[in-house]
Amino acid sequence: MAAEFAPDDQQLDGKVAIVSGAGAVEGGIGNGRAASILLSRAGARIVAVDRDLDRAAETVQMIEAEGGTAFAHAADTTLEADCQAMVAKVMETYGRVDVLDNNVGIGSSGTVVDESLENWERVMRVNVQSMFMAAKFAIPAMIDSGGGGAIVNVSSISALRPRGLTAYSASKGAVISLTRAMAMDHAADGVRANCIAPGPVYTPMVYSRGMSEAAREGRRKASPLGIEGSGWDIGNAVVFLCSARARYITGQTLVVDGGITASGPARDPNA
Ligand SMILES: NC(=O)c1ccc[n+]([C@@H]2O[C@H](COP(=O)([O-])OP(=O)(O)OC[C@H]3O[C@@H](n4cnc5c(N)ncnc54)[C@H](O)[C@@H]3O)[C@@H](O)[C@H]2O)c1
Repeated sequence: MAAEFAPDDQQLDGKVAIVSGAGAVEGGIGNGRAASILLSRAGARIVAVDRDLDRAAETVQMIEAEGGTAFAHAADTTLEADCQAMVAKVMETYGRVDVLDNNVGIGSSGTVVDESLENWERVMRVNVQSMFMAAKFAIPAMIDSGGGGAIVNVSSISALRPRGLTAYSASKGAVISLTRAMAMDHAADGVRANCIAPGPVYTPMVYSRGMSEAAREGRRKASPLGIEGSGWDIGNAVVFLCSARARYITGQTLVVDGGITASGPARDPNA
């Protein structure tokens, strides 16, 4: 008997995907750049959005070099007007929106005692407000496009296992709740919303701050698999969650961390 549902490899043919924070510094592979390239390989036309247009344009060059279709768009996704203009530009150019990879995020460290209110507000604005704003305009466009929609909001395992990154952890926890709210509120519209919670991933955000080989090795050892995550690991999870293969999945958080959050202290065999 033929399979009832057997999606092929080009799962996103004809679809249009907006990726925020699609650039990366120093020609590297960040989570947004990797997702843009992998969504393109799956058949989608890509809108690479970044507040730094040169970074987004570099992502577009990489996609076009492989024969994909994309354009770069400059936007500060914390701003309502920029998010509105971003979606208007996508509708004008491609006439539809199917996927939103809400990937923008900034890091921050400090305890609740030493974190400043100013920085707390900045982190919340970039990490949470950006996702709220982009979705506010993308969801109606997805509904108008008539093919449902898929949103991925990028959280972090810091939301699940916070340590010394108070504002960042709180912002990424809010991303999980925001995702569940979007998923419930728009399921009847055919829009799915899921979260990815990456573990330590070796992206330009991390290595441009400087990271010794010893620190990198420590990150590898923190994972039961003994390996370090890359932007490609996150990008592959984005493609899966946005494809028809995930059609029955919404409101979930997919942890992509080499098993870090599943691990605990080694069991004492004599205990
Ligand atoms: N790298 C990690 O280890 C790690 C771990 C967990 C979660 N994450 C999350 O993954 C996402 C991407 O991380 P990355 O390491 O690839 O980051 P990155 O710094 O390499 O790339 C982020 C991009 O977002 C852009 N950006 C920042 N603020 C913006 C704004 N207001 N408007 C538009 N663009 C903006 C930057 O210009 C940059 O090009 C973030 O949400 C981050 O919190 C990363």
